Amino acid sequence: MNDLDNFRKQIDDLDQQILALLDERMRTSIAIGLVKRATNAMVFDAGREFAVFDNLLAGTLNKRIPEWAVLDIFSEIIKVSRALQSDNLQQAPPKLYAVLGHPIGHSLSPVMHNRAFSFINHNGLYFALDTTDVGRTLFALKDLDFGGASITMPHKETIVDYLDELIGVAKEMRVVNTVVFTNGKLVGYNTDSEGAMLSLKYRTELEGKTVLLLGAGGAARSIAYGLKMEKVTTFIANRDEEKGRKLAELTGAVFVPLDEALGVACDIIINATSVGMHPNADDMPVPPEIFQENMLVMDIVYNPLHTKFIKEAVARGCVPVDGVSMFVQQGARQFELWTSKAAPLPIMRQTVLSLLKTNE
Ligand code: ATR
Repeated sequence: MNDLDNFRKQIDDLDQQILALLDERMRTSIAIGLVKRATNAMVFDAGREFAVFDNLLAGTLNKRIPEWAVLDIFSEIIKVSRALQSDNLQQAPPKLYAVLGHPIGHSLSPVMHNRAFSFINHNGLYFALDTTDVGRTLFALKDLDFGGASITMPHKETIVDYLDELIGVAKEMRVVNTVVFTNGKLVGYNTDSEGAMLSLKYRTELEGKTVLLLGAGGAARSIAYGLKMEKVTTFIANRDEEKGRKLAELTGAVFVPLDEALGVACDIIINATSVGMHPNADDMPVPPEIFQENMLVMDIVYNPLHTKFIKEAVARGCVPVDGVSMFVQQGARQFELWTSKAAPLPIMRQTVLSLLKTNE
């Protein structure tokens, strides 16, 4: 190594040391800010700042760094210190959000939303609440000035009785997965429907296509309505025939018994049943022979990440859309309703994928 490289390396090391010292200085400064708050003292203390400069200038005697440079550099440092103290003191308490369900222990929503909040610097905190009395819990959250809530199984339909207003699909299908608390009102939305449609449209044009939708529960209701709005031909197959027929009637679809689903000619198959969900990962709602090459096959089950339904479809040359896609899209729409800011979709997807991989 020549002399110049050596010197440069020394400079780089010194700069790193200066940076570490500056970081330590800022940490101490923030601590001082907290003490000031506890003692009701002002952040800006002119006397103290003069004393700091006096000390520094006395320290420049016999040094190579000139006084003006010390003044310049430390003016900037003190400016940053002051700003950090004020920011920390002025930061409002976080806006709170929660997902309400039962059981809720394995929900991926808290980590997904919290990561997204911090990514865009939204001062929010999201957590999971296990509740069997969703109405009472919701009213408590309203009193606590929450910003919003996600609603999941088994409350997506019962929740509507407690809301002041329903918007869009939530109103049409009476299925709600998102509540926004605005001006003392509880407003219900359904982002599952849009989330599912966006996941499909990411892969294909929908207009003119024929879809086989498996299931007639809460998730299937949201998806069936979305499909109706996209003007596709929909066949609904469900184990409980009466429920399936009712949903088909409501959404202009054609009902087929589950054991006749194999005979339906279609471009897209969607599993909106809970079949194949952990711990019954070897189950499928229909036999694998249903899959034909190039069909688009979507599963709403995302745990496990690679369901048997999706694996069999891929093995037969179908294009897969995994359950994480719809989960993240519905979460992104919730995020936007609560924060009025664009959701960081790639971060949300990455967060969910890494959680699922850790669990696998
Ligand atoms: P979600 O809100 O997730 O849709 P849900 O309302 O309980 O949950 O609906 C679950 C769906 O999975 C229903 O369509 C259910 O069929 P039934 O209406 O016949 O109950 C379907 N499902 C659950 N277990 C099933 C199984 N073993 N075979 C076939 N369908 C099943």
